[in-house]
Order: sequence, then C-alpha cells, then structure tokens
Amino acid sequence: MDARPPACIGVFDSGVGGLSVLRALKRRLPDAPLCYLADSAHAPYGELPPSRIVERSDHLTRVLRQQGARLIVVACNTATAVAIDELRRRFPSVPFVGVEPGVKPATLLSARRRIVVLATPATVASLRLRALVARHGSDCRVDLVACPGLADLVEQGLDDARALGDVMATIVQAVRHAEADTVVLGCTHYPFVATELTSALGPDVRLVDTADAVAEQAARLWSELAVPGASPACVPREAPLRLYSSGDGTTLRRMVSQWLGQALEVSAPPALL
Ligand code: DGL
Repeated sequence: MDARPPACIGVFDSGVGGLSVLRALKRRLPDAPLCYLADSAHAPYGELPPSRIVERSDHLTRVLRQQGARLIVVACNTATAVAIDELRRRFPSVPFVGVEPGVKPATLLSARRRIVVLATPATVASLRLRALVARHGSDCRVDLVACPGLADLVEQGLDDARALGDVMATIVQAVRHAEADTVVLGCTHYPFVATELTSALGPDVRLVDTADAVAEQAARLWSELAVPGASPACVPREAPLRLYSSGDGTTLRRMVSQWLGQALEVSAPPALL
C-alpha cells in the first residue's frame, strides 16, 4: 500500500494573510487539493531578523513536503523577499511560487506616475524589493512605506479599532505626501483591510494586489507537474483543503469561514519525522 500523503499544493504564510492568495488559488484551481500552513505563533515575520525568517520558511517547507506538497506557494511577501532564493537553493527539486508587490502592474495603472508600496519593515528593507522597483518602476516615483503593526492587527482579527485607525492615518499621510494615485498592497495581510484603506484614501486611489497573478503562475506549474489523480476528471468536485496553524487557529478558522465560505477545522502542524 502507498503510505505517502496525497499530492497537494502547499501554501504558507506567517499567519492568516496568505488566505488572500489561497482564495485566488481556489478560484483558479477549484480541483486542486490544498494544504495551508499559518505560522501564527511566529508572526509577524515583517519584524523578525532575516535569518529567523529563513529558518521558519525552511521549517514550513519541510512540513508541507511531508504533507504531500509537490508545489509550494510562499503566500507571504516578506518570506519571498527574504527567503525564497535560499529555499530554491536548499530544495532544488521543489517548484516554488512567491508573492511580490505588484510594482509593474501599478506602473501600468498610475496616471500620475506616483506609486506607494505598502509592505512590512522586512520587505521594505530587502534588496529584492529595491531590485524590483529598479527593474519596473524607473519612470515613476515609487515610495516604499513600511507599515509596522498592520499585519499583526489583521492577525489579531482586527479587533483594535483605535490602533487600526492610527495605522490608517499614517498611511493616508504617506500617500498624500507622495501625491500617489496607486497603492500596492505589498503584504498578503493587507487585502483584508482593503475596505478600510479605500475609505481612508478615497475612491480615486487604486489598490493593486497580485493574488490572481500568483494563482495563475501556480496553475501553470501545477499543470506542468501533471500529478496523477489531480486532473479535474479524477478528483471530487470540492477538492480537499487542510488547514494548519502554529497559533491557536481562532482567526484562521474565522477568516476561512468569512472569506472562503467554508467551515473547516484547524489543526496544529504535524511534527517533522
Ligand atoms: N503576510 C506577510 C507578507 O505578505 C507577512 C506579514 C508579517 O507577518 O509581518 O509580507
């Protein structure tokens, strides 16, 4: 008997933010089995030293591999910025899809040629983001704005209205100062405050999220892998979604029900063999 776990797409984030990518993946690949791992006990990554982000990303990759992941979506801008090169080096046989701030699509949208990228402190400090801006944003003014605390507020279930209001005020000030008409959501937690951002910034400021582009890239690699039994004809209509959290799972369970419309159990991540 084959004791290997069934093949799936593994998705990880520092916490619940990657659900914004998972939602797009489920829309694009409704038949693909998915395994989502939220490292909420160690969030926010954006305020950790790079070596720790690499260490956590390595660990989560091993857990997902053990759970049958043939393709891994790093549904975290911070882990992508800091750790994806090292993950590709350490796991050369694993295809990884990362998430990067949508600087290029923003340059195509911005009439004023003024863009603000909102991201975690670690992403803003990364060389990878600087290189992305140099590659795609050279004919625009691109301001990188670190938003310490914002991912954590999402992680805590957005219960602290006052702290959220303070972060929004800082963002509004930065966007007005830059005279930007386009704001890039450079952290997967931020789409969950898109409504608050739009009401703070006004309807003329466009928000850019890359979740659909990431899902598209994952779909392309998944079809190239041609995993047996993963074709639409061979799997049940509602493909399985397994959820793991290193935290208590409360926000994850609530957000999966709210954003994906599924009532699912959240388990502790299985120990590595
Ligand atoms: N969701 C992550 C990102 O896209 C990380 C947020 C955090 O843990 O600081 O950057």
